[in-house]
Amino acid sequence: MDRIQITPGLDFSRIVYGMWRLGDDDNTAPEHVQAKISACLDQGITTMDQADIYGGYMAEEILGNALTPDLRNKIEIVTKCDIVAPAGRYDKARVKHYDTSRAHILASVEHSLRLMKTDRIDLLLIHRPDPFMDHHETGAALDEVVAAGKVRAVGVSNFRPWDWTLLQSAMKTPLSTNQIELSLMTHDAFTNGDIAFLQERGIPPMAWSPLGGGTLFASSREDLRKELKKVGEEHGVDAAAVAVAWLLAHPARILPVLGTNNLDRIARIGDAAKLKMDRETWFEIYTHAIGHEVA
Ligand SMILES: NC(=O)c1ccc[n+]([C@@H]2O[C@H](COP(=O)([O-])OP(=O)(O)OC[C@H]3O[C@@H](n4cnc5c(N)ncnc54)[C@H](OP(=O)(O)O)[C@@H]3O)[C@@H](O)[C@H]2O)c1
Repeated sequence: MDRIQITPGLDFSRIVYGMWRLGDDDNTAPEHVQAKISACLDQGITTMDQADIYGGYMAEEILGNALTPDLRNKIEIVTKCDIVAPAGRYDKARVKHYDTSRAHILASVEHSLRLMKTDRIDLLLIHRPDPFMDHHETGAALDEVVAAGKVRAVGVSNFRPWDWTLLQSAMKTPLSTNQIELSLMTHDAFTNGDIAFLQERGIPPMAWSPLGGGTLFASSREDLRKELKKVGEEHGVDAAAVAVAWLLAHPARILPVLGTNNLDRIARIGDAAKLKMDRETWFEIYTHAIGHEVA
């Protein structure tokens, strides 16, 4: 499994395992979570994607309950903050909102460290752009958690280029990534400037829901799936692996974040890295994704 440098001294596995759905699994016992992580590690997938809000602010604790010190040292943890929904520890919130204040960021980091039973977060992301953001305050808070050694790198998620430049303009620490929705089902980022912006700066994007959150397997996408299946048969992998390989093939150095809860599927996530896709195959698949040939 290839690795990508996120910041000097910190690199991630090219494919990341996402834990948004961790709490949806019928089995959230530590042994089961450890089995999922082990299945990832067997394939060289060492990077785990979390957020404070996942599982109604419970998913970080589910992970923490499974993490022995030894296991913690074998993985990198990404987590996020700024979404405040009236649930869990924020059940008194009157409205779902974003909070990029210093106080919220510092408190979120402490919650995440405690719940995941760790002394460091490898990468902290601002989860959603906050229309009420004071970029000086947010930028300084992110610099502060890095300087304190609690967070090794910082980045953003779902930011547009102008959100990125606003926040970065008030920070000393370089932002390391933007985690955006990107898949054969949601591919605007390839043409609306989001990927180009990161590519120009040499910043590796992270792609959430690389299988469209499962919608790639809906009956309406039969045509696209047949194409993926055909390419997969030529390379001895399944349709899902081809969909992920399509992202890996892109020169922007995308890190797909897969979220299956199924142990058999987890054990095959790495198959995508076995397939090196050429330009015409990439466009054959893209043509099926957009429903017509390019102009
Ligand atoms: N930054 C953000 O705003 C944001 C937003 C959303 C997600 N994320 C991150 O991205 C990660 C991945 O998101 P995701 O879970 O939506 O990604 P995904 O990998 O695109 O979708 C996973 C879903 O697809 C289903 N699936 C996978 N393979 C399948 C197959 N062959 N046939 C049928 N269904 C299949 C899975 O069901 P099974 O579990 O049954 O396999 C699961 O429900 C999350 O865990 C989270 O870390 C970030």
